[in-house]
Amino acid sequence: MTADELVFFVNGKKVVEKNADPETTLLAYLRRNLGLSGTKLGCGEGGCGACTVMLSKYDRLQNKIIHFSANACLAPICSLHHVAVTTVEGIGSTKSRLHPVQERIAKSHGSQCGFCTPGMVMSMYTLLRNQPKPTVEEIENSFQGNLCRCTGYRPIIQGFRTFARDGGCCGGNVDNPNCCMNQKKDDTQVTQSPCLFNPEEFMPLDPTQEPIFPPELLRLKDAPRKQLRFEGERVTWIQASTLKELLDLKAQYPEAKLVVGNTEIGIEMKFKNRLFPVIVSPAWIPELNVVEHGPEGISFGAACTLESVEKTLKDAVANLPAHKTEVFKGVLEQMRWFAGKQVKSVASIGGNIITASPISDLNPVFMASGAKLTIVSRGTRRTVPMDHTFFPGYRKTLLTPEEILLSIEIPYSREGEFFSAFKQASRREDDIAKVTCGMRVLFQPGTTQVKELALCYGGMADRTISAFKTTRKQLSNFWNEKLLHEVCAGLAEELYLAPDAPGGMVDFRRTLTLSFFFKFYLTVLHKLGKEHPEDKCGKLDPTFASATFLFQKDPPANVQLFQEVPKGQSEEDTVGRPLPHLASAMQASGEAVYCDDIPRYENELSLRLVTSTLAHAKIKSIDISEAQKVPGFVCFVSADDIPGSNTTGLGDDETVFAKDKVTCVGHIIGAVVTDTPEHAQRAAQGVKITYEELPAIISIEDAIKNNSFWGPELKIEKGDLRKGFSEADNIVSGELYIGGQDHFYLETHCTIAVPKGEAGEMELFVSTQNTNKTQSFVANMLGVPANRIVVRVKRMGGGFGGKETRSTLVSTAVALAAHKTGRPVRCMLDRDEDMLITGGRHPYLGRYKVGFMKTGRIVALEVEHYSNAGNSLDLSRGVMERTLLHMDNGYKIPNIRGTGRLCKTNLSSNTAFRGFGGPQGMLIAEHWMSEVAVTCGLPAEEVRRKNMYKEGDLTYFDQKLEGFTLPRCWDECLASSQYHARKSEVDKFNKENCWKKRGLCIIPTKFGISFLTPFLNQAGALIHVYTDGSVLLTHGGTEMGQGLHTKMVQVAGKALKIPTSKIYISETSTSTVPNTSPTAASVSTDINGQAVYEACQTILKRLEPFKRKNPNGSWEDWVKAAYQDAVSLSATGFYKTPNVGYSFETNSGKPFHYFTYGVACSEVEIDCLTGDHKNLRTDIVMDVGCSLNPAIDIGQVEGAFVQGLGLFTLEELHYSPEGNLITRGPSTYKIPAFGNIPTEFRVSLLRDSPNKKAIYASKAVGEPPLFLAASVFFAIKDAIRAARAQHADNNTKALFQLDSPATPEKIRNACVDKFTTLSVTDVPGNYKPWSRRV
Ligand SMILES: Cc1cc2nc3c(=O)[nH]c(=O)nc-3n(C[C@H](O)[C@H](O)[C@H](O)COP(=O)(O)OP(=O)(O)OC[C@H]3O[C@@H](n4cnc5c(N)ncnc54)[C@H](O)[C@@H]3O)c2cc1C
Ligand code: FES
Ligand code: FES
Repeated sequence: MTADELVFFVNGKKVVEKNADPETTLLAYLRRNLGLSGTKLGCGEGGCGACTVMLSKYDRLQNKIIHFSANACLAPICSLHHVAVTTVEGIGSTKSRLHPVQERIAKSHGSQCGFCTPGMVMSMYTLLRNQPKPTVEEIENSFQGNLCRCTGYRPIIQGFRTFARDGGCCGGNVDNPNCCMNQKKDDTQVTQSPCLFNPEEFMPLDPTQEPIFPPELLRLKDAPRKQLRFEGERVTWIQASTLKELLDLKAQYPEAKLVVGNTEIGIEMKFKNRLFPVIVSPAWIPELNVVEHGPEGISFGAACTLESVEKTLKDAVANLPAHKTEVFKGVLEQMRWFAGKQVKSVASIGGNIITASPISDLNPVFMASGAKLTIVSRGTRRTVPMDHTFFPGYRKTLLTPEEILLSIEIPYSREGEFFSAFKQASRREDDIAKVTCGMRVLFQPGTTQVKELALCYGGMADRTISAFKTTRKQLSNFWNEKLLHEVCAGLAEELYLAPDAPGGMVDFRRTLTLSFFFKFYLTVLHKLGKEHPEDKCGKLDPTFASATFLFQKDPPANVQLFQEVPKGQSEEDTVGRPLPHLASAMQASGEAVYCDDIPRYENELSLRLVTSTLAHAKIKSIDISEAQKVPGFVCFVSADDIPGSNTTGLGDDETVFAKDKVTCVGHIIGAVVTDTPEHAQRAAQGVKITYEELPAIISIEDAIKNNSFWGPELKIEKGDLRKGFSEADNIVSGELYIGGQDHFYLETHCTIAVPKGEAGEMELFVSTQNTNKTQSFVANMLGVPANRIVVRVKRMGGGFGGKETRSTLVSTAVALAAHKTGRPVRCMLDRDEDMLITGGRHPYLGRYKVGFMKTGRIVALEVEHYSNAGNSLDLSRGVMERTLLHMDNGYKIPNIRGTGRLCKTNLSSNTAFRGFGGPQGMLIAEHWMSEVAVTCGLPAEEVRRKNMYKEGDLTYFDQKLEGFTLPRCWDECLASSQYHARKSEVDKFNKENCWKKRGLCIIPTKFGISFLTPFLNQAGALIHVYTDGSVLLTHGGTEMGQGLHTKMVQVAGKALKIPTSKIYISETSTSTVPNTSPTAASVSTDINGQAVYEACQTILKRLEPFKRKNPNGSWEDWVKAAYQDAVSLSATGFYKTPNVGYSFETNSGKPFHYFTYGVACSEVEIDCLTGDHKNLRTDIVMDVGCSLNPAIDIGQVEGAFVQGLGLFTLEELHYSPEGNLITRGPSTYKIPAFGNIPTEFRVSLLRDSPNKKAIYASKAVGEPPLFLAASVFFAIKDAIRAARAQHADNNTKALFQLDSPATPEKIRNACVDKFTTLSVTDVPGNYKPWSRRV
């Protein structure tokens, strides 16, 4: 049978594809076939939103054009016949005119690295196409499927809320406290400004100017549809046009998969390597898309999208009597936290049911509600209730292979019937449930006697289950405490989970089943109380009421304060002004070029790494015969192909390719090279490796037991520890574990290597923070001098330390492939590979002993630090050194000893990550500090302040604290956050609420600025001034979103006294500035800025005679004159940080040039029953000296804080007992999303605080604010303490350990109560857990 032509439109242009392959996604097609690289690949699994596009089609049932957002990474091109696609390039560009959405995100500083920006733009654009005047809530909801790792989200929301009809920007005209323009200037703070951007500059949104729906598609709206067939290399896609056709096809191909949204099947194909040779699409069939309001409920065709179901149910809730819509409200509550808009607008209700996922959010709700399913096949039709028999096994349903689901009827509820749905996940938005449930009770008319009771759960077995043994026993019982106790005891028994159950968190999940029922019990009691105020079954204790409240978040409120530039500063001098990131407009329009956006070379090849599946093993054999059969296969590269040295790594302890032995899962063994990335993926799967397994060391505890360490112990000591402890009134000891963190930069590692064919020359385009090591490692591997290798970096889509050294894993392998084939080779890691292979932040274990006086004054401290370094040394020593130099945070400790050991384990080597060991050291410090306060019975803020250093103090490494602004930051933060008044309110709240608790905490940070390796504190710059007066600037730093290039242009502009518009930075390259230090350690602005300044001074000196000769001339005149006088207009600049260098051996020398300080105060609310928490408010006061660019600096403060929030409260890497990383993508690893940021977020840059030690009196800012998120961690701990005290005789002095991150599991487990004690499963050690701490 011949294949049909696929016809769709992209940005108004018709695309006719004669060879549509069902395996091709829209994303791959846009980027590769159409050259539209604005749409980005961040994860490939619908979890990050970087690939968001708008789809538009004519909906025949609704009789109108509909627009919706979708993930291009999951949309098969074959699903797009007669659909119009709009990408970020289609709505505006810097070459013509930016769209207001693009303009506003750029000007409001909502784009740092910019990799998420096109996706953000398209989510907002789609919302505006459907709702030109949205509410703030609608705006927030539209971003549930979009992640950003840089900005901390605040600026994105703030920029976009200028479109909102409520709380948006009113240009300061209305008395709106949320408006950025209405932040009152304090008379005493006349120099403080709250205006990071001016909304008056924004172009208005004019919906009439939007591109129209393609007329050709509109003309086809009533045309009859015929069956279509698209044939790919391995898969056939058949688009059925009628139900009969569909059923015939299903009879002919019973194994065929029906695909609607492809949000399940797409994942299975990509990540589970499933192949479905025949796919049938039912999207066009009216019967599967229809919605019918019947006498017993609303019936939805199985292909109805979740978005349309949500809309219909919302309308029903608004229009029907309340008692009829109890179930609908339950479904809507689940939908609120179900995926993001991009998924909900394409995923179908039938797809969710038939996938039969054990953690489906809808199935427990449908099962509890008594929903009915209509199932059809050729010649048969049956309607079955969705009860406990519907899912006979893991991912199985009652459907026979020929059958399809036609529709589902969701019933109306009845008088006396109550329904609730609950879900707890790691993150509220866009996360899969740990436990999810639907609960329904029907009472005998006019009584509280149970007639029907259904409790259905997901996440508690290999399928959706109903606890019918427990519920059956309660029929005819009354809704009272007795029933509550019996049900809880029954559920604890019936919903048993084996201690090694997949998904882990067994005690937590079991506790949740009871907590949810308790919430349901209270909710029903509450509703009964409302219906029958005479109260038949006992009043709801008012302190319990808040347990029944569904999650609500107030609209965001933000303030950012910074010091205005001095009056009289020239307009051209942009230093100190909130200049937007120079590339932000191009980032917003999709024009900004990232590594993988570079157009493909004609003869380019794709590389895919082949990595170990075992943590420690000998390689016995490698068989590539299956790989060779994959079309487009070119070669396999391995250690045998290396012309130079296979030894690599910072400590010369790594190999480019493992030769005989692998030492972690993800260890690179070889790579396949093929014509396309898809073929490369298949070929890599075809490489078969046999191993002889060796014993592996996975965790810190394993390493300690086996004495497995990298290098000797590191130690720092001051004072007399023995004396200190002997004088102490009290001594507390304990330990704290801090989990690792994945960088999760939105752009994964990427390299293109282009052999030049001459003398071993090669050019590499790399997403790296370290051009120097990239160059030297490649040269060493190829056995050529470094002068043959050019490494070029335009920009990165985020780095955060993850691209400081680990990028070389990819670039060296790709270079070898390019060398071997003589052709350009490209590799961009998939998200799962990136997470597996490249390591992250080191997990830490701290064992401490602290001695203190009754007053809270610390007199002695001893801490043993252990980090999980992984299978190579990499930067682990430097990371531990920084830990040891930050173990005091901001406190003076007279007698102190810190030791550090780097655990050598069989995990991927851990590496640099924003903060570089500092946050771990400081978290341990704040942990014992809070224990000291609790033990002394003193307010924590008092004990912290008492122990804080003072101006002129010496640290324990003998560095004098000069310009010590931490006390100022502290006092300002204490005042601006109204700490004391709010503390009383928190105490009051906690007294009045039994199951919700609040915590408030203020935390300082002191962060040392400099590379600890002294020679790295150097930088170079190169300036070319062209005869037209334009300046090309190059320096040693790379741009990864932190705004370094923008700041460098500002510095050069101020130094040369010319407008920034005359200065341009094109890229970072080893051929312009050599031997650069990595862009890291927060010092890049300091050192490169100074180098730029020096280069500018040389130019100025050379221009001086021409200025003197022509004092009224322009910059261009002087430049031209100099040129004509044969004066060089190219200059280098160089800078070395003076007097830094510290020796651990002698505890002498100066490790840091200076310190950056900050203080944060955070308030949280926890739900003691579920472990959920809300970040209510954070106030930060940060000393960044005289900010070079307050918008960029505040962006760094907020972005780092939110990344820290992820580290300390959310992000959890899970490893199997064998050392296999389980969490390898956004579906399982949760970075903060829009909903995680504090509802009130106030950031203020300390005024009048010039720093003598860095360029234009500024300070480093990249890493220091990250630790301030510990204020949230300790606020959570305070809230837990309040909860525990309530259940343990009010003992507020009892100490307890809360390890980081404070996830819902840890919070819930720590809030011990009657439910947790009912749910303890087994003694650890008696079983092999699903995951283990490393
Ligand atoms: C980023 C992301 C977030 C997600 N979040 C959640 C979440 O929060 N909660 C949750 O429960 N799920 C979640 N999911 C899972 C998924 O979105 C849902 O299960 C979705 O409803 C599947 O619908 P679909 O149309 O995309 O299914 P498809 O992938 O198109 O199909 C799924 C399966 O259903 C079968 N099928 C579809 N329709 C029929 C029919 N009419 N008759 C017979 N078989 C049929 C298909 O053959 C296939 O086996 C998420 C998925 C992603 C990618
Ligand atoms: S790339 Fe598509 S959602 Fe992440
Ligand atoms: S700007 Fe959002 S990921 Fe970098």
